[in-house]
Amino acid sequence: MSPFQITRTLPEDAMAAALRADVLTGLTFLPKALPPKWFYDALGSELFERITELPEYYPTRAEREILVTRAGEIAGALPARTLIELGSGSSEKTRYLLDALSGLHSYVPVDVSDSALTQAGQALVAERPDLNVHALIADFTAGLTLPDAPGPRLLAFLGGTIGNLLPEERAEFLAGVRTLLSPGDALLLGTDLVKDEKVLVRAYDDAAGVTAAFNKNVLAVVNRELGADFDPGAFEHVALWNAEQEWIEMRLRSRAAQTVKIAALGLAVDFAAGEELRTEVSAKFRKEGVRTELDAAGLELSRWWTDAEGRFALSLSTVR
Ligand code: SAH
Ligand code: AVI
Repeated sequence: MSPFQITRTLPEDAMAAALRADVLTGLTFLPKALPPKWFYDALGSELFERITELPEYYPTRAEREILVTRAGEIAGALPARTLIELGSGSSEKTRYLLDALSGLHSYVPVDVSDSALTQAGQALVAERPDLNVHALIADFTAGLTLPDAPGPRLLAFLGGTIGNLLPEERAEFLAGVRTLLSPGDALLLGTDLVKDEKVLVRAYDDAAGVTAAFNKNVLAVVNRELGADFDPGAFEHVALWNAEQEWIEMRLRSRAAQTVKIAALGLAVDFAAGEELRTEVSAKFRKEGVRTELDAAGLELSRWWTDAEGRFALSLSTVR
């Protein structure tokens, strides 16, 4: 096999149909909401990378700190021959794992963003010609079929992206992950932790406005893909802490009463002045909650590492 293969497990028309269904449901029920996976076209993936470099956005730096200090321990606990990574994006932090896993045969990055996968995959094979990189363009919430690759397998889900799933979606997702693992494999999960509200809100409402641009990008995606006429300037970026649910919510607030047309759906959507469209939740976790959710999926939390300031955690779980 060539060292870099990219497989589209999601045909483009299935992606388009999924977007249509999500927009139809999300904009015709109240409160209005869209799933966060639609942020990530080429521009959205680039904006996310800019977010990771913002002074206010600590999760990437905190998780990198854990990987820098613990990659050797992780590789010792699970000397994987295959590393599968869900929502891999730029695979930037993954390099610490790739370096530590000395017997690694294959790396399988999985993402909905073909631009992120192509860029990351091409850069990796140029750096590591000995590594088989088999990228999958796929939705990790839609049931995954992984390529044949030797075990033991480490399935990494970094960045805290699990927090972008709602609790019921997380339970279904983790149960699905469990079915992908065999005895001897493990899940390496990144979870952002509950902390001071001001620190959290700042991380999602940065001074330079990059997160606002990322949030509004979903409107540009719907305009392009479904012929809608959203005016991103007519919406305001909102980030707030929901203390009951322990998650950050990103919303787009309509600055005035307006009607948006979505040509591909033959739909006209009314927004009242001040009405909000929820575009993302980003749940923050506590150790016992993570353990309970893993346990419910048949996974046993065996290791837990945090950065020095206790902002973010990486956990390793095995099949129970
Ligand atoms: N793991 C990287 C990137 C996190 S950004 C990091 O820690 O920095 C979240 C990534 O998950 C993006 O690349 C996005 O395209 C991808 N993603 C979001 N929802 C997805 C889904 N349902 N299926 C597959 N990939 C998804
Ligand atoms: C990808 N995910 C973990 C990010 C987060 O922090 O929830 C997405 C993001 N949204 C706004 N900023 C970053």
